[in-house]
Amino acid sequence: MKTWSQQTREEGKTLGLVPTMGYLHEGHLSLAHKSLSTCDRTVVSIFVNPKQFGPNEDLDTYPRDLESDRLELERLGVDALFLPTSEDMYPEEFQTYVHVEEITDKLCGESRRELFRGVTTLVLKLFHIVKPYSAFFGEKDRQQLEVIRKMVDDLNLDIQIVGLPIVREPDGLAMSSRNQYLGNTERKTAKSLNEALQKAQQLIAQGESSAETIRSRIRTIIEREGQAQVDYISVCDPKRFEELEEIQGKTMIALAVHVGKARLIDNCLIERI
Ligand code: PAJ
Repeated sequence: MKTWSQQTREEGKTLGLVPTMGYLHEGHLSLAHKSLSTCDRTVVSIFVNPKQFGPNEDLDTYPRDLESDRLELERLGVDALFLPTSEDMYPEEFQTYVHVEEITDKLCGESRRELFRGVTTLVLKLFHIVKPYSAFFGEKDRQQLEVIRKMVDDLNLDIQIVGLPIVREPDGLAMSSRNQYLGNTERKTAKSLNEALQKAQQLIAQGESSAETIRSRIRTIIEREGQAQVDYISVCDPKRFEELEEIQGKTMIALAVHVGKARLIDNCLIERI
């Protein structure tokens, strides 16, 4: 991968990188599309990164379908698929980690302690191996995107980070590799995440400015469906992820909810002037 990417740079071509854990869906493909349309060459990496899963999480059962992913990426015209093994990335003597502080303690970092240290360590390694001009990430994982931007800023990396909008199923559910864990009735519950975000946006547009009222309206909508176990409902500022009392200016509403075996996340950004 290093040799190929170096040759590409020597040819004066710009390189786009799309890091993924595979089991690709339209959300991932939207990132690859953007890279293909803005960079000369595109690399997609698929690596189910063990360092970002906690001991009781779904590392062993995380969905995988390499053949279908490969076909899809070939069809799109992606130039290279990078498929490192765990031994490649983390040989036995591996002992160096990258940790972004404060903003990783909030939201998903609070209930998934290993997550962001694993993500930043892996993504920094990918950046060093591929040395892309741009790297593409989805706003579905908005906290992850901000954590990566922070790492890039703090460590003076010359990589353009591009964030792209959430791609949804026709019923509004944010696409995710983990959606395939959902049974039929769970799927109905899962839909309520986006419905609750929509309702929150509507209430705010109508003048509601209390963050607590918004949190409790969201909770009511999600818990109405049964089978949903809320991890967090956050109304916070979108850079530092600190909870707000009063909704003003740019605000992020973010949710994490367990539905059956799946832990689902969704979010939206609003601006109140
Ligand atoms: P993964 O969950 O496979 O997601 C790969 C990329 O696709 C991430 O940037 C994610 O935000 C984006 N993505 C996922 N679902 C999306 C959707 N519905 N709409 C738009 N973009 C979507 O996120 C990871 O993998 C890993 O943490 C990784 C960054 C690869 C590091 O291991």
